[in-house]
Amino acid sequence: MTVVDTHARLPTGIARTPRDRHYLMCPPAHFEVAYAINPWMDVANLVDVDRARQQWEVLRDTYLRLGHRVDLIDPLPGQPDMVFAANGALVIGGRAYGAMFRFPERAAEGGAYAAWLSAQGYRVHEPRRTNEGEGDFLALGSMILAGTGFRTSLEAHIELAEALDRPVVSLELVDPRFYHLDVAIAVLDDGNGTAPADIAYFPGAFSRHSRRTLRDLFPDALLCDEEDARVLGLNAVSDGHHVVLPAAATSLAASLRRRGYTPVPVVLDEFLKAGGSVKCCTMEMHR
Ligand code: ARG
Repeated sequence: MTVVDTHARLPTGIARTPRDRHYLMCPPAHFEVAYAINPWMDVANLVDVDRARQQWEVLRDTYLRLGHRVDLIDPLPGQPDMVFAANGALVIGGRAYGAMFRFPERAAEGGAYAAWLSAQGYRVHEPRRTNEGEGDFLALGSMILAGTGFRTSLEAHIELAEALDRPVVSLELVDPRFYHLDVAIAVLDDGNGTAPADIAYFPGAFSRHSRRTLRDLFPDALLCDEEDARVLGLNAVSDGHHVVLPAAATSLAASLRRRGYTPVPVVLDEFLKAGGSVKCCTMEMHR
């Protein structure tokens, strides 16, 4: 019998080592599906608010149990999607590029997140171009993967590159179910520790040209199938070793284990009613 030691080095010599993270979350006090701005949302599909609150608390407690820092921002009444903190900005090393939401329903969130970040001492670059923060921007090593097609504009990719002074790789999303980059790609290792950058993605979410870009940049990436992508399995948060992901993404979890990660499944199905899951509820303050 073979015993799988998830802390062991992979045959390649790569060790999956966790690094301490700093997250921002927003309690779901006003969470509901009050409008429909993505194909997951149906105002007739009522949210069980107590269940949503419990699921969100389990997610926060999971991060704390893994040793990470979780800050909280006060939710604004009338902003039911503010729980999706990832959309509030992209923060790297004391600097932030603020969000400018695509739909008027969420417009007020941009200022709320920017104000919170400024008060915490982050230098916030005020955006002029439509972008939804970490929903479409994924920090990876020295670069940023940036999605466009549904929410964030291509012009914002250029503005971001200038604001945070980093190379930006533009990727085009083509399937409305995967309207944000963070539901089409999961960053498994950000490449800032000892292991190389590592991602998982669902090829079907991207244009032909962007699939080619991803193949060229990440020839060894973990490819996620449609079944796992459809339960938002890629909307995951990794510390380089533990990958917190939606519990329904069972074969993705098995693949992660084989790759040396420890999957940490959480149930967030109340948030799926709004088209969000683990990563959507989490802004990372990248160092
Ligand atoms: N209902 C929200 C919207 O459509 C969900 C946002 C999900 N957030 C994310 N980072 N993918 O804007």
